[in-house]
Amino acid sequence: MRVLSVQMRDFRTYARAEAQLGPSLTVVHGPNGAGKSNLLEAIYFGCTARSPRTRNERELVRFGVSAMRVVVRVDDERQRHELSVGLQTRGEGRAEKVIAVDGAPLERPLESEQRPLLSVFAPDRLELVKGAPALRRAHLDQFVSGLWPVRGAARREYARVLAQRNALLGRVRTGSASSATISAWDRELARSALALSADRAAAVELLGGSFARQARQLGCQAELAVEYRPRSRAREEDEFVAELQARLRADLERGYTGHGPHRDELAIVREGRELRVFGSQGEQRLALLALLLAERAALEQERRRLPLMLLDDVMSELDSERRELLAAELSRDGQSVIATTDLAHVPGAGEAHVTRLRVSPGTVLGEAVAA
Ligand SMILES: Nc1ncnc2c1ncn2[C@@H]1O[C@H](COP(=O)(O)OP(=O)(O)OP(=O)(O)O)[C@@H](O)[C@H]1O
Ligand SMILES: [Mg+2]
Repeated sequence: MRVLSVQMRDFRTYARAEAQLGPSLTVVHGPNGAGKSNLLEAIYFGCTARSPRTRNERELVRFGVSAMRVVVRVDDERQRHELSVGLQTRGEGRAEKVIAVDGAPLERPLESEQRPLLSVFAPDRLELVKGAPALRRAHLDQFVSGLWPVRGAARREYARVLAQRNALLGRVRTGSASSATISAWDRELARSALALSADRAAAVELLGGSFARQARQLGCQAELAVEYRPRSRAREEDEFVAELQARLRADLERGYTGHGPHRDELAIVREGRELRVFGSQGEQRLALLALLLAERAALEQERRRLPLMLLDDVMSELDSERRELLAAELSRDGQSVIATTDLAHVPGAGEAHVTRLRVSPGTVLGEAVAA
């Protein structure tokens, strides 16, 4: 699935603008504050109805107006489609979002199967490497649904049963339910927990070798690896149920379930030590990039589906040799958009297969410069 264009109406700095993406590499260039990151964000928002940068979607509406809209045109090899997401703000309350495909309104955003897959590199995404385990779990689960769309259901089912069990623990604590009722949920929780862990383990297995290789190629001197560290060692439902039961007293004291895949970790390690704690800034950046490239390779291999890579400010801290390697890797296949202040930082940016978009401060997105 290819993204052909993005059209913005009152999205951040853009009053009205449209950008046509190239089939392979598109380089978005312009000075600081020109609107490069905004453009990448618009592509993401148009595809997923979410911002990769902020949870407060009101920020996306151009200053001084109350509504915005992004339209992304995609080509899925058989047909062209138009995905649109609009946001209307009213007073201080929640913004109202309207999502549509080919003009027909949708209740909720498209599943990843029905829209382009996306992969984002941006300086604030370093949190994925540095931040709390929950971020990496969520990222891993998204990768699992990208690889095997039907398996996304395992995560939703686990979350549902966990919430039920937690609610019941709360009721037992206040004396409005008996602790015997909890064990009824344990088996269900065990079933979905094992399914979820198996999916996560299989996904990390696919990533492992290529992550280490990508990191090495990007010039990381130390040996990097990804490791899935499940909370539970259970292989059978009975074992998981026993683990839960052994912790029942603690769960009742806390009022929530302390054991299970919602406490798993996807560890990124540098020679045996956690990169989030011991990695340098540069190593963490390289690790993030290597992780995204490894995921891309896995999606290509498993699904023949490459994500659209949105790479914001990726080149500035790479040396010229790594820039060459990255540009070559991205040009090999699939679609990517790179934002940079300096066109010279993107090797081959002047070549015919590269689309260049110049962004200038203000509202208008420049035309692609002729080769
Ligand atoms: N809702 C909004 N309405 C109008 N302008 C906005 C809005 N949100 C952000 N901006 C402006 O967008 C500009 C930043 O744009 P953006 O982050 O895309 O720049 P950039 O080209 O990526 O710059 P850099 O090279 O520094 O990363 C800022 O000047 C900011 O004030
Ligand atoms: Mg930027």
